[in-house]
Amino acid sequence: MYKIVIKGGRRLRGEVSVSGAKNAALPILASSLLARGQSTYRNVPGLGDVITMRKLLGQLGAEVSGDGTTVVDTSNVVNFEAPYELVKTMRASALVLGPLVGRYGKAQVSLPGGCAIGARPIDQHLKGLSAMGARIELEHGLVTARARRLHGATIVFDVVTVTGTENLMMAAALAKGTTVLENAACEPEVEELGRVLNKMGAHVRGAGTSLITIEGVDELHPVDHAIIPDRIEAGTLMVAAAITRGNVLIRDCLPEHLDAVIAKLVAAGAEVTMEADGVRVVGKADIKPTDIATRPHPGFPTDMQAQFMVLMSKAKGQSVLSENIFENRFMHVPELMRMGADIVIDGHIAVVRGPVKLKGAKVMATDLRASACLVLAGLIADGTTEVLRVYHLDRGYDHLERKLRRLGADIRRVKVKGEL
Ligand code: EPU
Repeated sequence: MYKIVIKGGRRLRGEVSVSGAKNAALPILASSLLARGQSTYRNVPGLGDVITMRKLLGQLGAEVSGDGTTVVDTSNVVNFEAPYELVKTMRASALVLGPLVGRYGKAQVSLPGGCAIGARPIDQHLKGLSAMGARIELEHGLVTARARRLHGATIVFDVVTVTGTENLMMAAALAKGTTVLENAACEPEVEELGRVLNKMGAHVRGAGTSLITIEGVDELHPVDHAIIPDRIEAGTLMVAAAITRGNVLIRDCLPEHLDAVIAKLVAAGAEVTMEADGVRVVGKADIKPTDIATRPHPGFPTDMQAQFMVLMSKAKGQSVLSENIFENRFMHVPELMRMGADIVIDGHIAVVRGPVKLKGAKVMATDLRASACLVLAGLIADGTTEVLRVYHLDRGYDHLERKLRRLGADIRRVKVKGEL
């Protein structure tokens, strides 16, 4: 067990590179199951969820080697079950459902229970697979999907779902006939999966828009692919620069994936400039209150809501944040309040009043983006902040504290004895 210890007050300066995108790497690693043989993925981020996906692929019989460049050999896949032990630590384990039933005609995935940020059912994934001809059974907490061969179908999602869209794209890639996904998620990671599937020989059109058409093919082949940069890591580093009145060049990021985040940073008074090799963020003393409503892409991402709350606590005036994607994504608020933030929650709305001087404290997060928010708060708090349960942070960030330290933050990872 580790904790992160931060002494606040340093202005961040310098350059930092963004790692590969977690939420692109996970479906892409799962997509390896659609073809027989050895696929090579580059720019794979070193983080907990990727390790879990590697374990899952390993349990299915794939051979996985390498890290930053990961090689997955699916020649000997013999098992079609994603067990509870893995699904309970990472809901994105459900991403093997589509590829397994699409290629092998059978998949068994332990039904993910509710998680820290909300109920997060997978009914839309199952509805789509069923429309494509899969027989779905739910028994003993396991979902079993079976089909001799899936067929194309037109599926209209009731809610916009990122992994739901990805699961059905993968299932449809090997189905007989054409599948149309309406009200599909438009996230850059969905578009990236479409790119990878097409490289494998699939016929996917419209990935990255709300209407995706997939003409099924009989066979796909392995690929060699470099994963896009993580827009949420980039956004987190941008907020770090803005709140510390820093001057940071964020390299290896795709600013076109961050339009909504950059627009809000600028509205809050940060200076954001596009340079040849990255995005420069210069933080100003005068932070303006800014309202934020999370929406599916291209709206403001829910995965940046917690981090923005720290910026809002430094703004002169009142900001309103509404969380519209997950029903329980304010768990960072009580911890921020312990550090001195002035926040009132009413349902899915949080009203943040600033500016406040945050004070260092021992804090603990229950999910990934909440941990990132507390690390950011520690960067500007008076005194020392200890962020406990760092495994949440490590699930989704590739050594965030190392990157912040290189930018001048006084931050270290400390081993602790026993459970926290
Ligand atoms: N939903 C349903 N039924 C479904 C699927 C989703 O009701 O069958 C609801 C969910 O409960 C939620 C909303 O639809 O209220 C959106 O959920 P979505 O399915 O889009 O989320 P996800 O695919 O499980 C991905 C990311 C999340 C990110 C969300 C929203 C991956 C691996 N995870 O989750 O990332 O917050 O999309 O953009 O891509 C994170 O990285 O910290 C993270 C949580």
